[in-house]
Amino acid sequence: MSKLVITGRKQLAGEVPISGSKNSSVAIIPAALLGEGTTILENVPAIRDVEVFVQILEGLGVDVSMNKNTMTISPNDFSTYVTQYDLVRKLRASYYLMGVLLAKFGKAEVGLPGGCDIGPRPIDQHLKGFQALGADVSVEGGIVRLKADHLQGAPVYLDMPSVGATINIMLAASMADGTTIIENAAKEPHVVDLANFINAMGGSVHGAGTDVIRIKGTRDLRGTEHAIIPDDMESATYMMMAVATAGDVEIKGVITKHLEPVVAKLREAGADIEQNGDFIEVSGPERPKPVNVRTMPYPGFPTDAQQPLTAVLTRATGVSIVHESMYDNRLGHMNELVKMGAKARVQGKTAIIEGVPKLTGAPVTATDLRAGASLVIAGLSAEGTTEVHGFEIIQRGYEAIVDKLRSLGADVQVIE
Ligand code: EPU
Repeated sequence: MSKLVITGRKQLAGEVPISGSKNSSVAIIPAALLGEGTTILENVPAIRDVEVFVQILEGLGVDVSMNKNTMTISPNDFSTYVTQYDLVRKLRASYYLMGVLLAKFGKAEVGLPGGCDIGPRPIDQHLKGFQALGADVSVEGGIVRLKADHLQGAPVYLDMPSVGATINIMLAASMADGTTIIENAAKEPHVVDLANFINAMGGSVHGAGTDVIRIKGTRDLRGTEHAIIPDDMESATYMMMAVATAGDVEIKGVITKHLEPVVAKLREAGADIEQNGDFIEVSGPERPKPVNVRTMPYPGFPTDAQQPLTAVLTRATGVSIVHESMYDNRLGHMNELVKMGAKARVQGKTAIIEGVPKLTGAPVTATDLRAGASLVIAGLSAEGTTEVHGFEIIQRGYEAIVDKLRSLGADVQVIE
């Protein structure tokens, strides 16, 4: 285990470039296996989740190389539909191989996915979608087995706008016969990025970014070039860091539209935010104002920004109420914030945070990716030294976080 040691109370200032989106990359990298020929992906973040995905693809016999942030994927010679269990369980997004392998080979064997421990994360909607397209589905011994002699486009109504199910069904449907219509689809930016990628491969996906997505399948997908969109949650995290340290940070290379819910909430908390083209400049007040927030699917306030926001609110000038409506267990990090002097209690899926004038550094542990981001934010704003244990969890999703923080004036070091 490694730890990040932060000496806090430095006002962050300067520019920070935003990397490619983690959640887009982990959908588009497997999608590249659908096409004949080589795909070149630009703006792929060098993060652990991407490294694990590369290992999984290599295990399938796919030729993958990464040069800085450019990934080349040549899937021509691979014919394996069975994934390695020890690797897929490290990564939530490995479940996208179900849709991809089912589309390509008519069968798939993929272990149930791992990922952040933020409460039960069923995949019933993914499996329901595969069944609607004509696949036999069985789950035994932790392995999902899918088989279809013929995949046929069909209507699929999702019980909730699940990002994962929307993407997985798009992947499977992209090579099915006929048209699939996903109703109550997720609208997150990475769903749209994947649709654009499938279209660039020669596919036909319409309506991504709305509740209804139509996918007309074709067997004629081919490798292409595509640049991954900027990571909205990395951007949100640096915005929160600026506010938490009363700093002034220019976040560069973003799509401002994707950040509207976060911008609105941080303005409510007293941040001064300017947006122009592809950058957002955020300056924080001495202490933020309290705000109430409820997480929602896009374009609501994102669950992935909830944990970072709670760290900001620990120093607000009043009481904030934060309700997590997506996951059952995404407030566990509040206990760690309390170790740093935060005054907060959790009732079910709601945190009641009474702002205090200052936090004090303490040893704390990151239990999941965004919990880790939250503790880093708290450490940056706290007096004294904070040790965030489990730094490798943070490296799953934040490219070059130490270099980026140092360039903004933070005092951080990693101890292995
Ligand atoms: N759900 C079901 N059944 C399903 C699918 C989802 O009940 O078949 C429930 C989940 O349990 C959850 C809700 O629906 O309560 C939303 O789940 P969703 O499927 O939308 O989430 P996901 O695809 O598992 C992705 C991101 C998460 C992000 C969520 C919500 C990836 C790899 N992961 O997860 O990202 O929190 O969407 O926006 O794209 C993160 O980056 O830190 C992260 C956890």
